[in-house]
Amino acid sequence: MNDQEFSTYELVGGKATFQKLVDIFYAKVEADEGLRAIFPEDLEPGKRWQFLFLVQFFGGPTQYGEERGHPRLRMRHSPFPIDMQARNKWLQYMLEAIDEVGIEEPARSVMRTYFERGSAMMVNVQDFGE
Ligand code: HEM
Repeated sequence: MNDQEFSTYELVGGKATFQKLVDIFYAKVEADEGLRAIFPEDLEPGKRWQFLFLVQFFGGPTQYGEERGHPRLRMRHSPFPIDMQARNKWLQYMLEAIDEVGIEEPARSVMRTYFERGSAMMVNVQDFGE
């Protein structure tokens, strides 16, 4: 993911930092009526999977894979109608959360780039743009 000696997971301070990131991000989702409507009623399971996935993806423990198998993220997002407007909001909140947690360079850019590219791949419904 990066060519440095430490993983992004280690650089940002491990599990506690990812927990904060996910908590802040989900609080923003909950406060946004439009985006919230795309998510299931019970946010807790998805929140836990997102936390475990990000820990694993950025070089931490692989509990996500052990419990959930291959991420298949596009497939797992397919039941939820995600248009470009939802994607942009999602991305905005995630990028804000990165800064609110205080994640510093170089991890900040590594994470931003991943979320910018990855979020576009989850779009599965066309809209007429913003
Ligand atoms: C890089 C971008 C993204 C990543 C890494 C990501 C990651 C994840 C993960 C790991 C899960 C749980 C998968 C599982 O069940 O094992 C998930 C669920 C979900 N994501 Fe994303 N996601 C991304 C982009 C988006 C975007 C743009 C939206 C737009 C609204 C979105 C909405 C959702 C929804 C609605 C769920 C289901 C939550 C639930 O079941 O409670 N995601 N995502």
